[in-house]
Amino acid sequence: MAVDTLVVSGGTPLIGEIAVRGAKNLVPKAMVAAVLGDEPSVLSNVPRISDVEIVGNLLELHGVAVSTGATPDTLVLDPSSVEQAASPDIEVHAGSSRVPILLCGPLLHRLGRAFIPNLGGCRIGDRPINFHLDALRQFGAVVDKRPEGLYLSAPKGLTGARIHLPYPSVGTTEQVLLTGVRARGVTEVTNAAVEPEIIDLICVLQKMGAIISLDTDRTIRITGVDHLGGFIHEALPDRIETASWACAALATGGEVFVRNARQVDLMTFLNVFRRVGGEFQVTQEGIRFWHPGGKLQSLAIETDVHPGFMTDWQQPLVVALTQATGVSIVHETVYENRMGFTEALVRLGAQIQVYSECLGSTPCRFGRGRYLHSAVVAGPTSLRGAELQVPDLRGGFSYMIAALAAQGRSIVRGTGIFQRGYENFLTKLEQLGAQVEPVEKV
Ligand code: EPU
Repeated sequence: MAVDTLVVSGGTPLIGEIAVRGAKNLVPKAMVAAVLGDEPSVLSNVPRISDVEIVGNLLELHGVAVSTGATPDTLVLDPSSVEQAASPDIEVHAGSSRVPILLCGPLLHRLGRAFIPNLGGCRIGDRPINFHLDALRQFGAVVDKRPEGLYLSAPKGLTGARIHLPYPSVGTTEQVLLTGVRARGVTEVTNAAVEPEIIDLICVLQKMGAIISLDTDRTIRITGVDHLGGFIHEALPDRIETASWACAALATGGEVFVRNARQVDLMTFLNVFRRVGGEFQVTQEGIRFWHPGGKLQSLAIETDVHPGFMTDWQQPLVVALTQATGVSIVHETVYENRMGFTEALVRLGAQIQVYSECLGSTPCRFGRGRYLHSAVVAGPTSLRGAELQVPDLRGGFSYMIAALAAQGRSIVRGTGIFQRGYENFLTKLEQLGAQVEPVEKV
């Protein structure tokens, strides 16, 4: 049972070492890829987070044998007996994760039909699935949207398609990959997303026998094949969790060694971390992040698709920016509604104003709407403890950072959500010397 309320006594720098494992935004998708194979797959570096559990359950419902491998963080996925699951059993997982939408292609290939429960995930924008459905229809899928979920069929099988994404959506690019690899003929997707997790998924699929190429202009070309085998793969480390702990070190004036963190996936973040005044040291084993003392510097930044500054790094960084001298500007261009979390930071003493205008060098899709997607952060401000309700996964982590940086006591409610993306969250906090107490009721 996840702890849902934490009492945080702030004002102590986080100091110590924690380890990150496979990326939340790759592992469940590699598990879905296993469904496409004729043979078992082995995935290692799997974190114990709820998205993995949910996808594991869904796969089991569809006849995939999911078991622990040679080490506790290895999964063996045997798809040799894939079968249709009962809709009511699938519906139990409604609202729990966004990953089930990626089962469409693999289930259509294996069974000719699929039922996908309504999706969950953080409420950081509307998060429609129109790009996914448009792409699936282009492959030849018939989609029936009902209140309880999506019913899909492929009466004539799935055929390669030329798909242009209106925006480089991560999930839709993965949808096209997982569908195109076994569709008849060639699939071409232009304006594709090329996040490291997507490249890792391409590596997984290539190991299974897929033929996928990536052009310099972010066009992905897939030549469909009749059969795919299994894979043996170690998931890339979680670059979002790494950046979250790095920001926690900076905001609390501490020093955190993130074991297994990988520089190549974090280059954009590391540049920003250095510009703000944080220091880091890359070693074979991971990356050490610390606050070197003295002032932190303000900066202007925009979130973007890879290789830009990730939207998921934005919320933890904003907390660190409350401690920087001067005015920082943060323009969120990926999600229209990912600045709501700043309201609570203001209650802690931060000076943050949000605007609907694009306060970056490039106008984004949200500039003409009423979306409060730009923030101006003035600092440094001393933060003081308060009561906080976690709004979403990354926003929640940011509240934890703020509570740890603040003087006095904070009560953070809704922390059960951390299980979705941060393995052993509480243990890691304790390892870093945080004064955090789980409580039943406060
Ligand atoms: N979009 C559409 N229509 C679609 C799909 C996306 O309009 O059919 C829009 C979204 O509303 C959003 C933008 O396109 O404004 C980008 O969405 P994308 O599809 O790239 O995001 P996603 O696949 O749903 C994944 C991660 C997110 C991460 C984003 C961006 C997973 C499970 N989720 O979401 O991670 O923020 O890519 O990198 O991989 C998190 O880990 O906390 C998290 C939210």
